[in-house]
Amino acid sequence: FSLRKHNTFGIEAKAKQFVAVHSVQDLETILIENKSQKKFILGGGSNMLLTKDIDALVIHIDLKGKKIIEENDAFVWVESQAGESWHEFVLWTIDQNFGGLENMSLIPGNVGTTPVQNIGAYGTEIKDTFVSCQAMTIATQTIKTFTKEACHFGYRESVFKKDAKDQYIITSVIFKLTKKNHKINTSYGDITAELAKKNIQIPTLKEVSDAVIAIRQSKLPDPKELGNSGSFFKNPILLKSDFEKILKQFPEMKYFDISETEVKVPAGWLIEQAGFKGKRFRDAGVHKNQALVLVNYGNATGQEILNVSKDIQDSIFKKFGIRIEAEVNVI
Ligand code: EPU
Repeated sequence: FSLRKHNTFGIEAKAKQFVAVHSVQDLETILIENKSQKKFILGGGSNMLLTKDIDALVIHIDLKGKKIIEENDAFVWVESQAGESWHEFVLWTIDQNFGGLENMSLIPGNVGTTPVQNIGAYGTEIKDTFVSCQAMTIATQTIKTFTKEACHFGYRESVFKKDAKDQYIITSVIFKLTKKNHKINTSYGDITAELAKKNIQIPTLKEVSDAVIAIRQSKLPDPKELGNSGSFFKNPILLKSDFEKILKQFPEMKYFDISETEVKVPAGWLIEQAGFKGKRFRDAGVHKNQALVLVNYGNATGQEILNVSKDIQDSIFKKFGIRIEAEVNVI
């Protein structure tokens, strides 16, 4: 079974077996029936690089449905099943004037995988509105609720990438959104500029979402047109004490303070400085408008993309002494 249509990088790789599940009951049955089989859980396929065929039963989580589960004057609790498209879910909340997800418009992928890496963009992360998620324990098929605390969210991090890795399948997620007094966050420079272009002073949720969509469309390739997985690397976080030494040598380096002791350096800047922006090696390349995004021009293999990523990591380490780490899950 070809997985090409099931990964946004558009990499050709085969699954030994493939099944799509549309209900939690189906999921339970599949897990019981295939107890001794190797299993691979697939959501929207938007944050992985396949470098080989998958010698396992691939279970594609296609659980659908979204609804309001509770509300009061000020807030609403919404629940989405894991297989809903993230962006469609965001638009559904904005249509009802529910605030909190607008800055994360147009992020590829499904709702169920958003907690795994605590997706974020333009100054917000899902941890800001996340309440809890439900997940099925692969070994026992019991459903477990993970509260926000239990998820141990960090920058593109969660318990699902660490202690709970490969043990659970997230089936649904609950978010708490605002019905009024929305906390509009336009602090990110790109959003401020986009709104200013349109002369918008006090933006609505929809206007923020539209601005984010416009920014993303101008910088980030649409996976339907050019295979990619968003940011391939995380932005490295450095101790200020180490960073200051590097800054002496590269005074033009971009950075953001994230705490008293740490700074975050945009990996896109490092990659651009290392000369990789817009470069192409056969069908594997570095996007021309956003160096943090690796792209598949058509028939790149996962291994070719991985090789480019390693060359980038090595060059950056040689030039700046900084190690950058993949954000994308390399399989
Ligand atoms: N930059 C360059 N050259 C480039 C790209 C970026 O010099 O080719 C520098 C610029 O100085 C720019 C800065 O990097 O001001 C930041 O760039 P940008 O605003 O595009 O954001 P980013 O740090 O590259 C992060 C997230 C994105 C998210 C944006 C906006 C990570 C790994 N990536 O990218 O998330 O959309 O901020 O909030 O944190 C993703 O995770 O897949 C993703 C796309």
